[in-house]
Amino acid sequence: MTDPSLRVLIPSEKIQARIRELGDQISRDYPEGSLHLICILKGATFFMTDLARALKRDVSLDFMGISTYGKGTTSSGEVKVTKDLDSSLEGEDVLVVEDIVDSGITLNYLLHVLDQRKPRSIRIAALLDKPERRRRPVHVSYVGFQIPDEFVVGYGLDFDEKYRNLDDICVLDPQPAAA
Ligand code: IMP
Ligand code: MG
Repeated sequence: MTDPSLRVLIPSEKIQARIRELGDQISRDYPEGSLHLICILKGATFFMTDLARALKRDVSLDFMGISTYGKGTTSSGEVKVTKDLDSSLEGEDVLVVEDIVDSGITLNYLLHVLDQRKPRSIRIAALLDKPERRRRPVHVSYVGFQIPDEFVVGYGLDFDEKYRNLDDICVLDPQPAAA
């Protein structure tokens, strides 16, 4: 399938190699105990399942749904939890797994919510980071790739629910108007 509006930014092999590096680093940083991974639906699901397998240690998994009130390619700033976690975080070493940090609004809000649940520690792993777009401060401990300010899809990331199942991360360019 070739789609003229897609341009490969990070090919699948590079994504997988970087996730193996992140897995090694995280495994070294948490030498003992279990690590509780929280996947932010839906974009982070692909990253989470590959990262979990790159971690040579015990992990437990949970999922959280967040909506950032906004259509298209920018979020409006309001955040709502649409699916909450199944289990308590009290005393857990928590790693929040996110697809991309853009304005930082989602993760800034989420960290406040999760902190109140008394985890032992909490850190963030994000596959992609667009630092130029930051509007709220967020400390991301593990970043896969820093990318320029372009809208990307694939490997979990969508535009209106499309393109999540691409192996590569691609820039979605506006389609030229038909002549
Ligand atoms: P933030 O709250 O602005 O940091 O937005 C984070 C969320 O916006 C991510 O979890 C994505 O769901 C979405 N998002 C931000 N940038 C992109 C992009 O380039 N492609 C697809 N989704 C994006
Ligand atoms: Mg997301």
